[in-house]
Amino acid sequence: MNEPVHPPPNRPASATRLRLRHPRGETRIWVGEGALAPSLDALAGWIGERALFVLTTPRVWGLHGERLQTLFDRAAVTEVLEVEEGEAAKDLEVAGQLWDRMLAAGGKRDSRLLTFGGGSVGDLGGFVAGCFLRGIEYAQLPTTLLAQVDASLGGKTAVDRPGAKNCVGLFHHPEAVVCDTRLLATLPREELRAGLAEVVKMAALLDPDLLSRVERDLAVLLAGDAAALAPVVAASARAKIEVVEEDPEEADRRRVLNFGHTMGHALEAAAGFSALRHGEAVAYGMLFALRLARARDLAAELAPRLVRLLGRFDLPPLPPSLGREELIALIGRDKKARESGVAWVLPAKLGEAVIVNDISRNDVERQIAPFLAAPFLIE
Ligand code: GLY
Repeated sequence: MNEPVHPPPNRPASATRLRLRHPRGETRIWVGEGALAPSLDALAGWIGERALFVLTTPRVWGLHGERLQTLFDRAAVTEVLEVEEGEAAKDLEVAGQLWDRMLAAGGKRDSRLLTFGGGSVGDLGGFVAGCFLRGIEYAQLPTTLLAQVDASLGGKTAVDRPGAKNCVGLFHHPEAVVCDTRLLATLPREELRAGLAEVVKMAALLDPDLLSRVERDLAVLLAGDAAALAPVVAASARAKIEVVEEDPEEADRRRVLNFGHTMGHALEAAAGFSALRHGEAVAYGMLFALRLARARDLAAELAPRLVRLLGRFDLPPLPPSLGREELIALIGRDKKARESGVAWVLPAKLGEAVIVNDISRNDVERQIAPFLAAPFLIE
């Protein structure tokens, strides 16, 4: 694990306040360096004197648990539910054990659940909260960059089935999300890189200024500098909020957020959800989508720019065992596929994407072998 490269400075905590309006209300959002402290009063008010369930992992709890003490002092009772890190926790059996423990602890319809961890903890926790007693309120305190910039916002919750990531779930928006970039100082560099891939995804299609900022500040961002990360997380959140408010349940526009995810999910599944982090798979997925875009004469300037930027990420190599047929089969099973076929998000140019579903199996097949052999080499 990284030593904090940038130890907590004497700078005061700061938080940008945002909100995401959705069909059932709104999510209150705090983003910034030290954003947890200024959010605690509001979170304590939301919890009131109710039962509080905290879903976390042993590592996050050990590193940061004491920061939440004020909330526990307020709650009638606090039950800390620990699950293992990563995708393995997003499992129906794990969810069942959590519901049993919440029932045994006297959980009620107005009990509160707080997720305190990365994207997997948030996805699982949102799912558990969304189904428990037909839905209880929850809040997200994401502790990874990927969860801060993307997964914690927008109400997508899910567990996995074998070979099919996120395929059982529901939309259930959190009441509050707190993205404190000081919590990122203990993250390994690979985790920061994975989160930055999701930032690049949004920046390329939604926020050109953010793309320039990532290009300029990549080194400090990869080092976990809380001050440099704060505006990046805030800009990503703003971009995502705008899209989700327009299309909360992914009827159309929200699909742009799936740039890189069609091949990305297939790579993750083919690699057994272990050899590649989600964000790393998305980075490779974006490279594949750029190939498809170039084959249609799209993204002439953007493609080399993104290839250059992702080339500086020092991604782990693609696992050698990945097979063409397996990837094609997995792409067909993608949960984003409709009856009309697989939808591919292709960048058209900086700040603009097209969503197409007329890419044939042959088109994909033609690109897979060269992609696997040299993912960064795009004509
Ligand atoms: N992570 C993509 C979305 O929330 O739509």
